[in-house]
Amino acid sequence: MTSNPFASTAPQIAASILSADFAQLESEIDEVDRGGADFLHLDIMDGHFVPNISFGPAITAATRRSTAAFLDAHLMITDPVRYAPAFLKAGASALTFHVEVAKDPVAAAQELRQLRCKHVGITLNPATPVESIYPALDHVDHVLVMSVVPGFSGQKFMPEVLPKCEAIKKRLRPSQRLEIDGGIHADTIRLARDAGVDWFVVASAIFDQKDRAAAIATLRSRMRP
Ligand code: DX5
Ligand code: ZN
Repeated sequence: MTSNPFASTAPQIAASILSADFAQLESEIDEVDRGGADFLHLDIMDGHFVPNISFGPAITAATRRSTAAFLDAHLMITDPVRYAPAFLKAGASALTFHVEVAKDPVAAAQELRQLRCKHVGITLNPATPVESIYPALDHVDHVLVMSVVPGFSGQKFMPEVLPKCEAIKKRLRPSQRLEIDGGIHADTIRLARDAGVDWFVVASAIFDQKDRAAAIATLRSRMRP
């Protein structure tokens, strides 16, 4: 896995540990590392912004102890700025906040940077208009388009978010990256790639498979024309 996915413009696969076996986290991480995942995606849920609770700084720190890879923390929490220091201290490489919880998205991005977050991302739910993130685009490193209503892995991909991907991609600088999250598997990854997506978050289509390396290889082969 890589410690800096921004260093490459090639498409990248981010394995979401939400579907990993937490009783064997280290070997799960090792398996997707050896299987060819590019970095890890950490789904942080507070039971408030989303109707599910996943994990917090302790598991983030345990993940960091298991790997030097880039840890992409997706904060599905109501108060991302308040908890950012704990996730940064735990070893998160990037923090992505939801535009739905930010009164002022530009200020939120700036506050995260002031907390020494090196890579700041903004994300939006399927029902959130794409225009809501435009004012913050100059202040973030990556944009995450949710292709399911966040809260759970294993949901169905929502193709109606693809025009959003295309619209955002047109506005990004070459150094910025477009990421998608939810329902990405062998039959949907190409649609997202064609809409300009650089980074693909995948939980169930990797961790729910017996052969994770084969699953990652299939995803990679299916994103190509
Ligand atoms: C959704 C999470 C996703 C989720 C993706 O609430 O943000 O990252 O783990 O799961 P799959 O890949 O199974 O749709
Ligand atoms: Zn996520």
